[in-house]
Amino acid sequence: MIATVSAGRPVSITGLGCKVPDRIVTNEELAKFVDTSDEWIVERTGIRERRMADDAEALSDVALPACVDALAQAGLEGADIDLLIVATVTPDMAFPSTAAILADKLGATSAAAYDLSAGCTGFVYALAQSYGMVAGGVAKRALVVGGDLLSRILDWDDRSTLVLFGDGAGAVVLEAVPDHGFVGFELGADGAGGQSLWLPGSGSRLFDESEKYVKMNGREVFKFATRILVQSAEDLLAKCEVSIDDVDLYIPHQANMRIIDHATRKLGVPSDRVVINVDRYGNTSSGSIPLALADAAADGRLRPGQLVLMTGMGAGLTWGSALIRWTKEMAA
Ligand code: UT7
Repeated sequence: MIATVSAGRPVSITGLGCKVPDRIVTNEELAKFVDTSDEWIVERTGIRERRMADDAEALSDVALPACVDALAQAGLEGADIDLLIVATVTPDMAFPSTAAILADKLGATSAAAYDLSAGCTGFVYALAQSYGMVAGGVAKRALVVGGDLLSRILDWDDRSTLVLFGDGAGAVVLEAVPDHGFVGFELGADGAGGQSLWLPGSGSRLFDESEKYVKMNGREVFKFATRILVQSAEDLLAKCEVSIDDVDLYIPHQANMRIIDHATRKLGVPSDRVVINVDRYGNTSSGSIPLALADAAADGRLRPGQLVLMTGMGAGLTWGSALIRWTKEMAA
């Protein structure tokens, strides 16, 4: 799916919030559980540490403060929201949805609320979906959450996955604006590659204790990631008739520093326009892009008028890019 939306009703992000759990887990700490080292992890992934939720915390607990901050920045309350989407593969439970749980906690009693599953691309999918609802007049104000507690589904005996992931969530408010806002989206999925990154024992095919952890063919996902991050971004920029030189801020999915470096080099984005948080948070799945947006806002790099390109990729296999002309001052 690819579309430029500049001819439609302008819709933009008017509020942004994020939250990571307090507990920092270093590479050295993980080396006590599996045969790995800080040196290997930093060299192969760029990850230095990640956050992990306490046993008592579920995704909705981590996402709630992010939602509260996003709503406050937009000058809204929960009751003003009529659409709430949570992009995640680690909801509090299969049902009720984490979106419904959050809607209740936020007092969003008028909101349609549901979870969306598109792996690490979930946040970009949810942006496109909520854009369509708001631009089409079906919803007035949407709250979109991207977040995961991947630590819950990691095998602490598997060094090839344990070191990569972390926990965190971000939230954004989408509303109609006078001008600017979203410019286009490109989304896709290739189910044939699904078993490169999967949770086999988690649903109606198989619900099994012994298969409840993430399984991944790292090399296959690496090849896919390096190809698709570039392809998706290039396709969207071409469709929107925008040059990469016009992109002020590039926010790729934060999976691995080598993947980000490859995409940045191939696309020709200067390194000072790339937002990086994988060193501090690891791969936070659906949380990675909104957390990076919040980082860029906090350090003053996300300013009104800037063209921001976000590209995600992940389980499915899925991918997606969104291009937005930023409208609102959001410095912390
Ligand atoms: O959102 C999408 C989520 N997933 C991804 O983005 C993952 C994409 N893939 C990757 O990032 C990389 O493939 C990894 C970081 C997972 C692995 O890096 P690599 O350079 O592709 O390593 P490799 O799989 O080719 O493995 C090289 C060696 C292997 O040992 P042998 O067979 O050469 O003896 C692995 O067993 O590294 C070993 N290895 C480790 N060694 C120390 C794998 N994981 C670790 C580890 N510590 N944590």
